[in-house]
Amino acid sequence: MSPTEKTAVPVLTIDGPSGAGKGTISRAVAEALGWHLLDSGALYRAVGYAAGMAGIDLSDAAAVTRCAETTKIVFRAPKDGGETRVIVNGHDATDEIRTETAGAAASAIAAIPAVRAALFDLQRAFRKAPGLVADGRDMGTVVFTDAPHKIFLTASADERARRRYKQLKAKGLAVKLSSLLSEIEARDQRDAARKVAPLKPAVGALIVDTTGMPVEDVVARVLAVVRY
Ligand code: DC
Repeated sequence: MSPTEKTAVPVLTIDGPSGAGKGTISRAVAEALGWHLLDSGALYRAVGYAAGMAGIDLSDAAAVTRCAETTKIVFRAPKDGGETRVIVNGHDATDEIRTETAGAAASAIAAIPAVRAALFDLQRAFRKAPGLVADGRDMGTVVFTDAPHKIFLTASADERARRRYKQLKAKGLAVKLSSLLSEIEARDQRDAARKVAPLKPAVGALIVDTTGMPVEDVVARVLAVVRY
């Protein structure tokens, strides 16, 4: 470890494909450690949502970039400890940004380099004592390259589709398992093939394949990386 890494606020990066359980695991690990949490995917989803609301064509890179630069995104943790709300330009968009359509829009705009640049400082600002768990695609490779702890969480495509299916069903959304599988595969393909910050394990990341693993075991495995 370099001297800066020793003194800097610690970060645990958790990257991986859609539906690998990053959200669930990141939340549980952040809570166990008493660290802050960054759901970077929610930022891309929020920009995609704001662009849609403004009638912006998602292939218009300049307009989407302006939108990324000006959209106000606030995470608000409810006092009762329920799901963190995502407020986009003053509107609670928590439910709207969670659909697969919003995920696909996020993935499309996330391939625009200037959009990623616009969100860079905002993401870095989440690094506060006593520590940060950062969930995304490029947390360990681009945003927090000096993070002392890096995880790449994955699972088979079938299992990831099943998990996403359960999650969306629980939210009362109408979904089909077969279409979810193809949407997830298409999204991963786009996230991994893009030129900027493609989805891939960071150098030195521990790759955890969670296929068939209960959530508690994954949490314990990840916590062990930070604690020992
Ligand atoms: O994690 P998620 O499913 O909420 O992310 C939605 C999309 O946002 C994902 O398909 C790609 C993009 N994304 C990204 O490019 N970089 C990140 N750090 C997080 C998400």
